[in-house]
Amino acid sequence: MTPNHTPSDAPDRLVSGQARPDDTGEVGLRPQTLDDFIGQRLACDNLRVFVQAARTRAEAMDHVLLHGPPGLGKTTLAQIVARELGVGFRATSGPMIAKAGDLAAILTNLERGDVLFIDEIHRLNPAIEEVLYPAMEDFQLDLIIGEGPAARSVRIDLKPFTLVGATTRSGLLTTPLRDRFGIPVRLNFYDPEDLEAIVRRGADKLGMTLTPDGAMEIARRSRGTPRVAGRLLRRVRDFAAVAGRATVDQVATDAALRRLEVDALGLDAMDRRYLSCIVRHYSGGPVGVETIAAALAEERDTLEEVIEPFLIQQGLIQRTPRGRMVTETGYRHMGLAAPAGRDRAQLDMLNQPSPGDDNDAGGTRP
Ligand SMILES: Nc1ncnc2c1ncn2[C@@H]1O[C@H](COP(=O)(O)OP(=O)(O)OP(=O)(O)O)[C@@H](O)[C@H]1O
Ligand SMILES: [Mg+2]
Repeated sequence: MTPNHTPSDAPDRLVSGQARPDDTGEVGLRPQTLDDFIGQRLACDNLRVFVQAARTRAEAMDHVLLHGPPGLGKTTLAQIVARELGVGFRATSGPMIAKAGDLAAILTNLERGDVLFIDEIHRLNPAIEEVLYPAMEDFQLDLIIGEGPAARSVRIDLKPFTLVGATTRSGLLTTPLRDRFGIPVRLNFYDPEDLEAIVRRGADKLGMTLTPDGAMEIARRSRGTPRVAGRLLRRVRDFAAVAGRATVDQVATDAALRRLEVDALGLDAMDRRYLSCIVRHYSGGPVGVETIAAALAEERDTLEEVIEPFLIQQGLIQRTPRGRMVTETGYRHMGLAAPAGRDRAQLDMLNQPSPGDDNDAGGTRP
């Protein structure tokens, strides 16, 4: 797999953490300060300390690397950090910086202490990464001007700045780049209580009357992801408006989410197709990911990076050395009884890699 490859969800997936074109409504829901930012306690508390220390010393804050799945608030936090520091915010992304000159132009235009946000930093071209190292370390740029015998190198001093990098795939970052971030911050999936608070805050902003159990229903089905919660909330609001309901309760929420085919755990039709393929055609597994991909006519990368992480996190499937298996929980979620002795067999399987399989263990994958 190349670092520049990002698998994409089917564009119509409501429960995808990745941004969709119709997510424009989420901008108004973005929290503006650390106090406003719900959840990720540890990350926020640490950032608060570093922000305050930088402000007290009147220095640029150390570089921050935000990593975690899509839609958990990396861009939001980067903006908040700049606002809390009281400095300018300049945003770009790895694939947008095509030439060293592009990066040089951005860096030389930064004011003292500014935050430079580089989204999808794992997709930076390696030649550009080299330019970034001295900029991050010593606030200096080394540029080669001209070609051949006439080429000369010039050194430019930069104003101290804070680089905030964001990535969904920190494993793809080169070690030298990762090591230059003094403050690594990992964002985790949100628990339903935090998501409920996020949904209630969103409903307030949208001027919508949502009961606490209605908010909880959306929270439980949002796959631990605020972006999904916001999206489901806006859809539920549409259904309620058309039905002429002033107050949206759990019954109304449940009805709307059923119509949208988002089930009690937040699985959509694509997740259920994946599970039922393994159960019906391969007796619950183990089955190699390539086989599943062929059977579902999906890319292997899409399965591994988009569908499986949430199913694994929920304990519905397992990656074993011999392939994917649906767990007892997975069977139960589909309203089926698992074959007898299934978990015992699974344990045995975990301990015995068989030669010649397609090595599905995913030991190096998150
Ligand atoms: N802690 C939070 N509290 C309230 N809303 C949040 C929170 N985190 C994220 N959101 C909402 O979720 C949306 C998505 O967040 P954001 O764009 O920051 O995610 P991201 O991690 O940058 O995603 P991507 O990986 O796709 O770039 C935001 O617009 C915001 O409305
Ligand atoms: Mg983002």
